[in-house]
Amino acid sequence: MEFDNLLLDKKDGIAVVTINRAKALNALNEATLGELLGCFEALESDAEVRAVILTGAGEKAFVAGADIAAMQSMEAVAARDFALLGQQVMNRIEHLAKPVIAAVNGFALGGGCELAMACDLRLASENARFGQPEVNLGVIPGFAGTQRLPRLVGKGRAKELLFTGDLIDAAEAWRIGLVNRVLPAAELLGAARKLAAKIADKGLVAIGLCKDAVNTGLEMESDKACRYEADQFALCFATADQKEGMSAFLEKRPARFQDR
Ligand code: CAA
Repeated sequence: MEFDNLLLDKKDGIAVVTINRAKALNALNEATLGELLGCFEALESDAEVRAVILTGAGEKAFVAGADIAAMQSMEAVAARDFALLGQQVMNRIEHLAKPVIAAVNGFALGGGCELAMACDLRLASENARFGQPEVNLGVIPGFAGTQRLPRLVGKGRAKELLFTGDLIDAAEAWRIGLVNRVLPAAELLGAARKLAAKIADKGLVAIGLCKDAVNTGLEMESDKACRYEADQFALCFATADQKEGMSAFLEKRPARFQDR
């Protein structure tokens, strides 16, 4: 696959997708969003890929937001279409049946913070900065930041970030639960690879069902969500991986999962 705004590297079952517009701090324009959608679509059906890492080119930014130059002269209908395209990308990543880790290597602002939040796990470099500064531009988030941020950090903290547009550093992002781990910049990608490899070592069917149970269940009433979990649990018993996993445990040997 060839892209103008992305780099794609696949090695040992792990795909690293790098947003490659460093001159604009990897800001998301329509073309980049379209490429991200196509890329994640292809990664879903690529049997070689068992986990994905998403990062930004350069040392300064993960993604500094939606592209302000592209948005400046938009009229309302185009702005809505742009937001819906961004949301489609975020949803595609959130619902990918494979784990996606954001390696946040600098600014993750506006659409960049929204992109990181659509990933399953977030590792941040010590120089990372997070925020939803849209109000400083006279707008609100459009790639579902008003929804994912409160679900991750709670309503009160989310509203403070959304209303003030303040940026927070990686340590504060960790403290409020926005990121899983903070690492020196030089160790970020290695740590993301190590974590991706650890997850990729499990059966992909179980990981995909687990991801779906969390994501879908969180949108349901609690009793329905628990019932949904039981159904997904039951589905595992239709897989060879369940038989292998439990046999391996009882036979005191490592499991060899086959993703089926
Ligand atoms: N869109 C377009 N271009 C951007 C950009 C963005 N979001 N962020 C940075 N750039 C560009 C700058 O215009 C600049 O380009 P030139 O060299 O051609 O002038 C280049 O990237 C480098 O940026 P700065 O010179 O500003 O770098 P800095 O170190 O002084 O500041 C920064 C870094 C604090 C991240 C600053 O660039 C900034 O505040 N960027 C905008 C952040 C923002 O408001 N993001 C939210 C966008 S709205 C949104 O995302 C809506 C939504 O939810 C859909």
